[in-house]
Amino acid sequence: MCGIVGYIGKDIKETLIDGLKELEYRGYDSSGIAILSKNDLFIKKTVGKIENLELASKDYVNTEKSIGIGHTRWATHGKPTDINAHPHLGEFSFVIHNGIIENFQELKKEMSDDLFLSQTDTEVIVHLFENNFNKLNDELEAFKATIKMLRGSYAILLISKTSKENIYFAKLNSPLAIGKNDNGNYSLASSDLAMQEDINSIIHLDDGDYGVVCEDSISLFNNEEKKNIAFKTLNSNKLFSQKEGYKFFMEKEIYEQSTVICDTLASRVSDKISFDELNMDISKFSSIIICACGTSYNAALSSKYLFEQIAKISTNIEIASELRYREPVLDKNALFISISQSGETADTLECLKMVKKMGLKTLAVCNVDNSAIVRLSDEYILTRAGFEKGVASTKSFTTQLTILWMLSIFIAQEKNIISDELLEKEIKAILELYSVLEVPKILHEKIHKLSKRYLHGHGFFFIARDIFYPLALEGALKLKEISYFHAEGYPAGEMKHGPIALADPELFTIALLPRSRLYEKMKSNIQELIARDSTVCIIGSSDKDLADDFIEIKEYSHQMHEYFSMTIVLQLLSMEIALRLGHDVDMPRNLAKSVTVE
Ligand code: F6R
Repeated sequence: MCGIVGYIGKDIKETLIDGLKELEYRGYDSSGIAILSKNDLFIKKTVGKIENLELASKDYVNTEKSIGIGHTRWATHGKPTDINAHPHLGEFSFVIHNGIIENFQELKKEMSDDLFLSQTDTEVIVHLFENNFNKLNDELEAFKATIKMLRGSYAILLISKTSKENIYFAKLNSPLAIGKNDNGNYSLASSDLAMQEDINSIIHLDDGDYGVVCEDSISLFNNEEKKNIAFKTLNSNKLFSQKEGYKFFMEKEIYEQSTVICDTLASRVSDKISFDELNMDISKFSSIIICACGTSYNAALSSKYLFEQIAKISTNIEIASELRYREPVLDKNALFISISQSGETADTLECLKMVKKMGLKTLAVCNVDNSAIVRLSDEYILTRAGFEKGVASTKSFTTQLTILWMLSIFIAQEKNIISDELLEKEIKAILELYSVLEVPKILHEKIHKLSKRYLHGHGFFFIARDIFYPLALEGALKLKEISYFHAEGYPAGEMKHGPIALADPELFTIALLPRSRLYEKMKSNIQELIARDSTVCIIGSSDKDLADDFIEIKEYSHQMHEYFSMTIVLQLLSMEIALRLGHDVDMPRNLAKSVTVE
């Protein structure tokens, strides 16, 4: 979380703010910029979204070439206030940081309390730098000495009045990239997306990299050694995402699913499934371990059913934040798959590092090319969902699960264990996803109308069975993150082992009733709740009058078609409820899109 940008050049305020707008998805509790010119210093910090910062700095005009840094924050230490917003300042320097300085309390003890204005972990960096500078009288040496003292994760940018032409940078376990344009000018940012239009080559820094950028040169070090710098071409087709007539990115991204899925399938589906990007014998693995967080974890959980049904391979799903601190006994012959939209999620990344050390073969299923998880994995498959800007994941979920479904077929093919009939049936179903994922206008209208009945109550249960159970988890996650209602996904068969005690008219149950899997059993579970007066809304293609409410999907015979049409319903339902409550569904409170801290 947190987004950082640094720039040297003219139009500096506008450039920094434009970059921050592209990074707002990483956190938007507060933001700030610091600009140093020959004769001028400007610093502004505001609470809330970048538009507040833009407004607060509207009178600042600077036509000179200057250096500047900017930050958009997702609070870890200290509340979102002006004081806690970055840049943090010392006597003569300014710092911004994404990550967590784990030993900041220890380091603070060595310094006078009077120095500190904020409650953040970051502020310690600027005071350490200034102490070191006062001792060493050399900016780079002082910066080096400073980062040596830090433990944790960081992407840091620091500027100082002592030179007014250098931006110092350092990276450890948080993303940082340096871009260059044709004139040899540099720009720094947490992500390619925040680079200016004319940046056409890029390096993604490695852990332990640090150095200094000035107007037309850059020095890069790792472990005291000077590093060669190999810039790569930056794809000029930057995915600047606009709302294209939709009011919210979330809505646009829900509607986009039927078209982005075609990109996901392109060149991978014919009369069989192929992944030309893979250079490994996929049939040789004895089992699969999948690791992820949040929505990506829910996609992984659903894929377990597919890997077991279709590829007949034992599959274990791990929550990254748990796996990394266990002492797991992992099958050395397993394929370890990391799933991540951003490719930056700290916990998922750490698990990947851990299993690489153990010698497991690793594969990433990811939406962002060149992200940390992609770069570190032995092999990767891109989901090609396009830039997802809404904080609540929608199209990344459907594309991830589609890739995993295709992978299960691919493994079955390579192991020679899938019949021609089944292969044909699965491929036909995959090729029909385009129409399954289309959002019928009438469905959206129905959900909009119905959503007003679900604005109170003491909570939601999303219940389902079999592969639909992880979808219930995803439905509950979507609702809670944007509506702030308590919602829980539960296996329908488990309700009678405890949670049914909660049933009353103020308990809302959203029940997934597919025809393709365990229909009769699921129906009985729904009836048990109706009998105990829970308010029940069924999502399905039959049993219209069984419960209080019914959201109808088309009749499909394939489980994944039912699955994906229910996915659309759940995404729209959570969005409509949240909108009725007046929430910003693209930027729900307390959340950030890329969770780069643990
Ligand atoms: C929920 C959501 C999060 C992410 C999770 C993992 O809508 O977006 O739960 O799914 O933070 O992020 P990635 O997939 O980027 O690793």
